[in-house]
Amino acid sequence: MPLPASLTDSLSLPLVAAPMFLISGPELALACCKQGIVGSFPALNQRTSEGFEEWLIQMNEELAAYRSANPEAKTAPYAVNLIVHRTNPRWQADLELCVKHKVPIIITSLGAASQVVEAVHSYGGVVFHDVTNQKHARKAAEAGVDGIIAVAAGAGGHAGTINPFVLVHEIREVFDGTILLAGGLSHGEDLLAAQALGADLAYLGTRFINTFESQADEAYRNMIIEAVSGDIIHTPAVSGVPASFMRQSLEAAGFPMDELNQAGEINYGEKLKPIDDEAKAWKTVWSAGQGVSQIHDVLSVSELVSRLTEEYRNARERLLSTGS
Ligand SMILES: Cc1cc2nc3c(=O)[nH]c(=O)nc-3n(C[C@H](O)[C@H](O)[C@H](O)COP(=O)(O)O)c2cc1C
Repeated sequence: MPLPASLTDSLSLPLVAAPMFLISGPELALACCKQGIVGSFPALNQRTSEGFEEWLIQMNEELAAYRSANPEAKTAPYAVNLIVHRTNPRWQADLELCVKHKVPIIITSLGAASQVVEAVHSYGGVVFHDVTNQKHARKAAEAGVDGIIAVAAGAGGHAGTINPFVLVHEIREVFDGTILLAGGLSHGEDLLAAQALGADLAYLGTRFINTFESQADEAYRNMIIEAVSGDIIHTPAVSGVPASFMRQSLEAAGFPMDELNQAGEINYGEKLKPIDDEAKAWKTVWSAGQGVSQIHDVLSVSELVSRLTEEYRNARERLLSTGS
């Protein structure tokens, strides 16, 4: 399966730690890259483009120093998430900074503009775009993206509603580049399952909230440990478009639980809230995916990657030994 050249020899596992609003910053991303998995953060986790540029400088300097001190180690490239939508007035300025600092991977959400692809390809970067259905995958393919993230049912954040078995095949029908699978993946064997299905990389968000390097506070992490898959409510009530939140957190914020709509067709066009309102909302109501039921601890990124590696290897050996 196709992987961009920058990823073929730099990964210890076929894994991207997904960007998360208010949760991921350089500390988490650097810890991931140093373990040989792609680390990322949304540009909007810095309040200004100036602050965002400081993060890019920090990422480039620290990773360059780490690579020269550890030439034998697998050190993965990092990714930045840009919300390409008119509710984000910063995206063009932030894109210019990504070009200036040659961010290796850009993850776009909402708009898959060919303008972004052209700008990122100009310095040798790659663009991954996240989608929840085949229609948006086709548009992203037409825009020339290098990778498509299949955000399946059960994911944290603005999740989709389509079963991963169906969604990956639907995307492969219209796209022959890199496919990443997201939605409830938590274990090493899930990474192998994603590959068996035809995805090239696994894309995990919620599992990384419960690492020491994330920006989530203790109450958020404890809620993840206590929550089960049935606690995840997929509703447009917080963002204007459907996203996944923990029931306990919606209740604590006073949402009328019996009136919350379950997800419908996602229409980003008119309904998404301006970014400042979104930040206020997501501070008090906590997003997570159905994978919460598989998360029982908080650990360091290096411990998590070691565990995932062991599970992944064991799952491969198990399959090989059964001759399957
Ligand atoms: C708290 C939280 C915040 C998120 N914020 C963003 C974001 O800012 N941009 C984005 O593209 N995706 C965002 N996502 C979605 C993730 O990037 C990823 O698609 C998702 O977490 C994968 O599903 P999983 O959580 O079940 O692993 C967020 C997810 C969570 C849980």
